[in-house]
Amino acid sequence: MKKLIAAASFTGILLVSCTPKAATSTAAAGTSTSTAEQIAQGKTIFENSCGRCHKLPDPASHNPVQWVGIMNSMAPKAKLTDEQHQWVYDYIVSVKK
Ligand code: HEC
Repeated sequence: MKKLIAAASFTGILLVSCTPKAATSTAAAGTSTSTAEQIAQGKTIFENSCGRCHKLPDPASHNPVQWVGIMNSMAPKAKLTDEQHQWVYDYIVSVKK
């Protein structure tokens, strides 16, 4: 139940925030425009940046919609650029498949 509510609220956040950020609107559509090289960079950035404050999260622990919301709150914490944000997101989603 908690997860359903979280997913719904992430969707709400998306509707508001996807317009100014090309990175998250691409992510919201569930399509990846990143190359394999960018996804590889995303993996490196993820491994270097996302395990600093907590254990490195498991990409399979959340669905792609949830990751949009998580990345919207974590990318600024990890001081990622919009591009890095996109690459890390695409890496996480690519691992899940
Ligand atoms: C500056 C510290 C910091 C960095 C860097 C950071 N996080 Fe976090 N993260 C937190 C804190 C604090 C929480 C718990 C509170 C919260 O949810 O905001 C958290 C929570 C999470 C959660 C759990 C959220 C949930 O809803 O279950 C995930 C997943 C996560 N982070 C992923 C990431 C990813 C991916 C990155 C790299 C882009 C990252 N974090 C970088 C501090 C950080």
